[in-house]
Amino acid sequence: MCGIVGYCGNRKAAPVLIAGLKKLEYRGYDSAGIATLYKGGYRLVKKKGRVEGLGDGKDVKGNVGIGHTRWATHGAPSTRNAHPHVFGQVAIVHNGIIENAAELKKECLARGEKFASETDSEVIAHLINRFYRGDLAAALRACTQRLTGSYAIAVLAAGSPDTIACARQKSPLVVAKNRAGELLLASDIPAVAEEGLQVCTLQDGEIALLQNGEITVFDSTMRRINRDFFVCDAQISAPAKNGYEHFMYKEITEIPFAMRNSMPDFTQNQDFSVFYKVLCQAKYIEIVACGTAYHSGLCAAYAFEKICRIPCRVSLASEYRYRDPIVPEGALVLAISQSGETADTLAAAQLAKERGACLAALTNVGHSSITTLADFVILTGAGQEVAVAATKSFNAQLATLYAMVQALAAHQGTKVECRDLPALAALSLKASERVRSWTPYFTGAKSVFFLGRGADCFVASEGSLKLKEISYIPSEGYAAGELKHGTLALVDKETAVVAVITQQSVAQKTMNAVHEAYARGAKVFLVTAFPEYGKREEIVDHVVIPTCEEAFSPALSVIPLQVLAYSVCLACGYDPDKPRNLAKSVTVE
Ligand code: G6P
Repeated sequence: MCGIVGYCGNRKAAPVLIAGLKKLEYRGYDSAGIATLYKGGYRLVKKKGRVEGLGDGKDVKGNVGIGHTRWATHGAPSTRNAHPHVFGQVAIVHNGIIENAAELKKECLARGEKFASETDSEVIAHLINRFYRGDLAAALRACTQRLTGSYAIAVLAAGSPDTIACARQKSPLVVAKNRAGELLLASDIPAVAEEGLQVCTLQDGEIALLQNGEITVFDSTMRRINRDFFVCDAQISAPAKNGYEHFMYKEITEIPFAMRNSMPDFTQNQDFSVFYKVLCQAKYIEIVACGTAYHSGLCAAYAFEKICRIPCRVSLASEYRYRDPIVPEGALVLAISQSGETADTLAAAQLAKERGACLAALTNVGHSSITTLADFVILTGAGQEVAVAATKSFNAQLATLYAMVQALAAHQGTKVECRDLPALAALSLKASERVRSWTPYFTGAKSVFFLGRGADCFVASEGSLKLKEISYIPSEGYAAGELKHGTLALVDKETAVVAVITQQSVAQKTMNAVHEAYARGAKVFLVTAFPEYGKREEIVDHVVIPTCEEAFSPALSVIPLQVLAYSVCLACGYDPDKPRNLAKSVTVE
């Protein structure tokens, strides 16, 4: 999704901005641009396409500037819709959506102002320019009072040299100072991260002014406030492929490590003692999440119910927030989000909290927005995930959630074991290499179905999501028993099917669906913990994954599906790390 960087110091701003934008590339975007202030005017470079198209910035003068990668929401991807937008004295970059943009635009048009783009963002430049009388922070505040929607805004004004003002509402933004005294801002810390960087995460309604080597933060009434700065972890500054061709595959290979790093002992670890108490007393668990995190929620709910017999519901965050949800007394809400910035998940979590739930956030990113919202923060230890398609973060979420299940079961006097999962995931990873030979069946398929029952059904959905995300092949994850109730009509000899069978009690039932698909000419492949099913005539080929506590098997069975999606994507000639139309963290509704 859109990214923002800003620089205010003594060096040339443009190369710093471009380097920052490059670090945000992995998040997905369609155009990019920078603006620097120089001698009371702007140097503006913006282009549809990759950041590379902006050049290296060495010829662009000015020591203060803002930059942006755009992921189109209002207005097609094009150079004129790319940010920054300049109007009058003012240049702005914006992440988010201005919901009342049409109304504000009408007002500006009535004043005789002309618009250069089709974006919702451009009205921000018009409003700030209207209110600007030399005090940039005040003009930005006057503007934000007129906006509804979500935004992270950074703004320059020709009359305010060496100054950037920025504001945040429901869209992440950090301001920072490095050891050299240079000031930076960014929508995501990795864009500006370096050793010793002091970072402040702005909160909704706050405005910050970067000027003369100092950062001043104001609350929504423009009162100066003292905000805490933390020192950023240098590790997040430079994601490297370490010899791998793509981040996605590198991250798949990191799964065993990511899982091992994400399994606190909730029964013993003092950091979680209060949370563990709340978990043990919870009468009901509700999980809210989006995308891959939603699938990890489904897998966890299955394990919570099956092993701990605690009712657990999983909701898509985007649906939960508009369902007028009931939050029963004693409800524990778990919000799962790799990035901690997904707008729908944040809104659902906020609503659950307002309605009395105890809120725990499970995220991979410390200091992300969700961490400031939650009563309890549980960090997964997957390490930075760069590829848009989530892999190791899914397994890390499962590791943490299964550790929770194990702890709750222990409290109830039941013994289940999840600590062996990382080692078993390493074996599953090894076995998964075999699926690469399945690739031609999938590149040539008209459609692909992933089938399973019980916990396998959720893995089927995640496997399908991976394939869709990076290979663009129409695919569905389906409950195997439901296939015959309509969807079977789509199955023919151009269909490829992957069945997942790791649950003994429903294994034969899934095989029935396999047979239904096979009888209609589909090519069926199998991921299973039970080798005997692989030998059936319906199966073209199979991968055997290790056995484990059955309810925890998704952490192992998903790995061959991740490798399959990767391999099919490469065979189709696409870049797995940067799928079209998608963004790593979706900060708009
Ligand atoms: C986007 C990403 C998905 C991700 C989803 C939720 O759609 O492309 O990979 O699963 O957001 O992201 P989160 O950061 O909240 O887990």
